[in-house]
Amino acid sequence: MSGLGAVLEAARQLHANHADLRDYAPWPEDLAPANLPARPVPATKIIAETPLRGIDMTQPLINAVRAASGVAAWKRTYTEEEVGAHFRNHYGYFELFGPTGHFNSSSLRGYIAYWGEGLNYDWHSHEAEELYLCLAGGAEFHRSDGSLTLEPGQTRAHDSRQSHAMTTHVKPILTFVLWRGPGLADLPRMDR
Ligand SMILES: [Fe+2]
Repeated sequence: MSGLGAVLEAARQLHANHADLRDYAPWPEDLAPANLPARPVPATKIIAETPLRGIDMTQPLINAVRAASGVAAWKRTYTEEEVGAHFRNHYGYFELFGPTGHFNSSSLRGYIAYWGEGLNYDWHSHEAEELYLCLAGGAEFHRSDGSLTLEPGQTRAHDSRQSHAMTTHVKPILTFVLWRGPGLADLPRMDR
């Protein structure tokens, strides 16, 4: 297996092995391949060329993402006006499964998302509930009730419409993100 199929299989195994993910939502049973065309962004090349170190449980998904980087449909939600050119050139995500993902699902949304080092992802929110899992690297996750630095294998949840932000320091971060509940097909918005 290669490409996005291998990414999906690695994500499925990680979901089965990680209690936080398993408890958050059942693995979607309605997955159907959407055959999305590849769509590179500037971060695609960075991800393919940067050795990203996780833990034993997350490394297979990291490796599958790096190998499939060139065939994924990468997106950037925010405009240069919102986040600046440097941010846009060092981040990107793709929807592995969900309403508009590589594999269609209307029950759960799963993203692979990357931010390079030294980025400030400003306060934003969305209706869907969210769980971040750090696959590789690390970042500081902010909520109004406090900040937490995530390392590989650790998770952070955001409630519906709860404003959150993120800062990367000397390391980049690669994440696997789950969205559940109402607003599943929406996009995050900056809270400004
Ligand atoms: Fe979020």
